[in-house]
Amino acid sequence: MGQQKKLRKAVFPVAGLGTRFLPATKAVPKEMLTVVDKPVIQYVVDEAAEAGIEHFVFITGRGKGVIEDYFDIQFELEQTLKARNKNAELTLLSGLLPVAGSASFTRQQEPLGLGHAVWCSRDIVGQEPFALLLPDMIMRGDKGCMKGMVELYNKTGGNIVAVEECAPDQAHKYGIVGVGEALEGGFKITEMVEKPAKGTAPSNFFINGRYILQPEIFKILETQERGAGNEIQLTDGMLKLAKHQDFAGYHFKGDTYDCGAKDGFILANVAFAIEREDIRSQIEEPLKAILAALK
Ligand code: G1P
Repeated sequence: MGQQKKLRKAVFPVAGLGTRFLPATKAVPKEMLTVVDKPVIQYVVDEAAEAGIEHFVFITGRGKGVIEDYFDIQFELEQTLKARNKNAELTLLSGLLPVAGSASFTRQQEPLGLGHAVWCSRDIVGQEPFALLLPDMIMRGDKGCMKGMVELYNKTGGNIVAVEECAPDQAHKYGIVGVGEALEGGFKITEMVEKPAKGTAPSNFFINGRYILQPEIFKILETQERGAGNEIQLTDGMLKLAKHQDFAGYHFKGDTYDCGAKDGFILANVAFAIEREDIRSQIEEPLKAILAALK
């Protein structure tokens, strides 16, 4: 391991309105929609925990209180489970509970963009590097995306942005990076552009929603400069930081599902259900029949 400061904290911006999932998200935060039997946010927190993260920082907003409740003890439920000797369920719940004091919550009061949401975490994160995980994206791979990033970070230090390849005609939907010289386990990032106009993207490597950032990003985000979509963009802030600090790209190889969109959410449910042996045996044949009927 190099001289870099240990990565202890992860930030989860969960203030998004989830308009793509109305009417479901009128009363339920999109991060609480379930993939098989766990809310989307649990997959993302598990990925951070697998990577060694010790403190979980949630940037919430109005109507998102249930996320805070989810990461707490549910006293009545647990008493009932105890009285009924439901030990497997009790063990499951306690295994998912963050250690007392290891989760922090603060609100982004207005939806001013991802850069603004990240800036809201500045006092809780303080002067140390931090992981950032966008909760819409959940991933499947031999190794969690953030775990692979931490391994690269332990060699390179600096800032790391995870990327994947997209079809060139999809690049305008994402942050796109320019690819420079190869590093062990990654590459140097030469440029970054948020939602490039069609035909102008520097590559087809898109930012997939996982970052390791140095705390100097907060000072840059404080200027609250607006970018694409008139929002305070994290990508623009990173571009400024890249003038003074290294940015490496980590090429994640696995399956990523955008659970903020209906297709990604449905595919995630099918993919994670099929991984579970108990469920697979029940759904494999009916699923095949549904697909066969399409022809
Ligand atoms: C955000 C980031 C973008 C990234 C994307 C991944 O955009 O700004 O760089 O590629 O997440 O999901 P959003 O999806 O919030 O528009």
